[in-house]
Amino acid sequence: MKTVVGNWKMQVGVRESVALARGTLLTLRGRSIAPDLVVCPSFVALSEVHKVLARSSVSMGAQNVFWEDHGAFTGETSARMLTELGVTYVIIGHSERRTLLGETDEMVQKKIVQALAHGLIPLVCVGETAEEHDQGLTQSHLQKQLIAAFDGVHIKHRSQLLIAYEPVWAIGSGRTPAVSEVISAHQYIRRLVSEFFSSVDSLSLSVLYGGSVDAENAYAFLREQEVDGVLVGGVSVKLNQFNDVIVAASEVLEAQSTHV
Ligand code: PGA
Repeated sequence: MKTVVGNWKMQVGVRESVALARGTLLTLRGRSIAPDLVVCPSFVALSEVHKVLARSSVSMGAQNVFWEDHGAFTGETSARMLTELGVTYVIIGHSERRTLLGETDEMVQKKIVQALAHGLIPLVCVGETAEEHDQGLTQSHLQKQLIAAFDGVHIKHRSQLLIAYEPVWAIGSGRTPAVSEVISAHQYIRRLVSEFFSSVDSLSLSVLYGGSVDAENAYAFLREQEVDGVLVGGVSVKLNQFNDVIVAASEVLEAQSTHV
């Protein structure tokens, strides 16, 4: 299977989010083969978007979660509150939160624990900076982020977790790593994470690629066996282009099904 996740960031308000959700459902109409689709609206739009997506095959994710269950935490949102709104996935450790809002590896770990405790599927983002990439430090950076993120975390089944490899320098920049670099990063992530979770074999763990994915390059990433899907930012709020990414994923799945 392939998974396509749209991260709408803080790009669209409630009305536009509802329109995007409706448009996405139209793209799927009549398709016998389609990827698993997850859209991640801003918190303010979750409730209205859920009304559109209820009873559809499209899932809803949140863009963040707090690590405590409840209490005096002004401005924060708990995992329990998210599940009440129909959220099933949550993005954790996105580089924008790490760099702009001071989110640390320890916070990421606590959020993962909390999300899992409430049955949410964490979509954990990791990736190196441009300097680390240029210095050949991608793997050691991924190792540092992943070891910290999964310290003391338990998962029983691979469906409880998604990981997104998102090089910081590729996000919103129009630049992407070579497909071969993505493949080797995914192989590394798979190997490392499966060492934490003995119950999950490395091949079945879902690793998505994110960073300047668009209608032109989506197919090249998605057709690789090592790439279980894509996390799409900017293009996910441009309905026509996001639809093209969904179509690319569907075409990959169709091609694979005819080769079986
Ligand atoms: P982008 O963002 O597709 O705009 O590069 C990806 C992300 O931030 O998840």
